[in-house]
Amino acid sequence: MTTAAPAELLRQARHNGYAIGAFNAVNLETAQAIVAAAEAERAPVILQVSENAARYAGLQPLLALGQSLKAAAAVPVVLHFDHAESFESAVAALEAGFDSVMLESGDLRPEEYARRLRRLADSAHDRGASVEGEFEIVSKASREGKGLPLEALPGLIAAAGCDTVCVAIGSEHKMRAKTAGLDLVRLERIAELVPQPLVLHGSSGVKEDDLRRCVRLGIAKVNLATELMSVFTTAVRTALADDAVNDPRRYLGAARDAMTARVRAYIRLLGSAGRAD
Ligand code: G3H
Ligand code: ZN
Repeated sequence: MTTAAPAELLRQARHNGYAIGAFNAVNLETAQAIVAAAEAERAPVILQVSENAARYAGLQPLLALGQSLKAAAAVPVVLHFDHAESFESAVAALEAGFDSVMLESGDLRPEEYARRLRRLADSAHDRGASVEGEFEIVSKASREGKGLPLEALPGLIAAAGCDTVCVAIGSEHKMRAKTAGLDLVRLERIAELVPQPLVLHGSSGVKEDDLRRCVRLGIAKVNLATELMSVFTTAVRTALADDAVNDPRRYLGAARDAMTARVRAYIRLLGSAGRAD
């Protein structure tokens, strides 16, 4: 097992111009695919469990699975609780043993969200864990010209004490085609104002060249779920086309292999291959 200090791994990534892939796991095979890919590429990796996935499979089983894979891995594996929908669920994830947690802003005003993040960050930092903040309310409102200006971000982030910061530059969750139109000028401005590692959500809908540009501009954590779920599901469908298949290991194993290959390709694209050495 390699001990991973999540915030430090991401600071190194931003400093050195690469990004760490943050891939969502929902079951045994998807979690194994993520760690197997990272080991094959000698890359640090973030294995994410969303609150949504925890509702499906249980927080403890998914965490135990992640901890077991992390303990046996020869590369740094960060266990991240993604899209916590409440302060309470974020704290519960930290107490359960996650290394890192992202708290959604919901409909909180930015100042109130920053206050909650500060309480969460204090608790996380005491445990050596880290916190990801999203100031989408701030940024979306700013884009629409009716919110706080981007210049307010550093003050809010300092008040929040979060380690990493999500940006809202045009990517959306659950896109099944790479058609997101990114505002890279906005990203450049955010990167000038915010020294913390930046996080891109909704990366499945982002073209590969745009992802490379984002990494060059300061994105250090790239979240991917939808495309990987599609790759996994397509492989299951293909394997099940053979009516003789009646063993879940046949189709889930094929899906695990397919997802491993895609995660490996993303790790190379993001520049984190070999960074665990
Ligand atoms: O937090 C998870 C990611 O933002 C998922 O994004 O739906 O584009 O894969 P995605
Ligand atoms: Zn997300």
